[in-house]
Amino acid sequence: MAQKLAAGNWKMNGTEASLAEIDAMIAAYPDPGCGVLICPPATLLDRLSKRVGSGPIATGAQDCHANASGAHTGDISAEMIKDAGGAYVILGHSERRTDHGETNEQVNAKAVAATGAGLVAVVCVGETLEQRDAGETLDLVGAQLAGSIPDGISGETLVVAYEPVWAIGTGRIPTIEQITEVHDFMRAKLTERFGAEVGGAVSLLYGGSVKPSNAAEIFAVENVDGALVGGASLKAADFGAIIDALQ
Ligand code: G3P
Repeated sequence: MAQKLAAGNWKMNGTEASLAEIDAMIAAYPDPGCGVLICPPATLLDRLSKRVGSGPIATGAQDCHANASGAHTGDISAEMIKDAGGAYVILGHSERRTDHGETNEQVNAKAVAATGAGLVAVVCVGETLEQRDAGETLDLVGAQLAGSIPDGISGETLVVAYEPVWAIGTGRIPTIEQITEVHDFMRAKLTERFGAEVGGAVSLLYGGSVKPSNAAEIFAVENVDGALVGGASLKAADFGAIIDALQ
């Protein structure tokens, strides 16, 4: 059974002052009925992890290098994320695939490094509007799943986020039928490759313009186990309402 997870991706947002939002979250959710994860920028990970302590809110990073250490200016390793208190790392987000040209092979290598360091890999997939209009969505998502997820993964060390590129930060979301189709497809593909036990245990998140006003209908989809939330995760009240919808 996949864990329900409300995950916040702060992207390149947040400074010390933003941690006040976390205090409000900790106070409001002493015992949430689902997993809660916040992935701040790397500069805040250590501070945020100390802030949430051993409570129910987990922390993570937004990327890692495939190597454990070395001459890679500007990068951070999975071991460093673990050392800073993180338990998860987002990998292959479309903004990294676009801005940094990340390939499925690179995401795969990062996922190997992440899980090897004891982190949960949150692997992102999703099509552009052109690919959807061309009827390529399932082929593209299938290829991203096949290429980006390493062999030998367990259900507890992998989360998959379906984030249609055209829905990110646009206020536009796919129809419930479109979300259902992709999430059913992803569950089937994971089950086919890793078996029913692992395939059924991977949390499948939807991401792209999730807000308090649309979260409940998205969470009602059978193979949606939660959300990867960008903009609405920056404010405790909005992210809290999304957590409420998932509980
Ligand atoms: O990773 C989360 C994301 O890309 C969605 O962003 O702002 O549309 O919720 P947003």
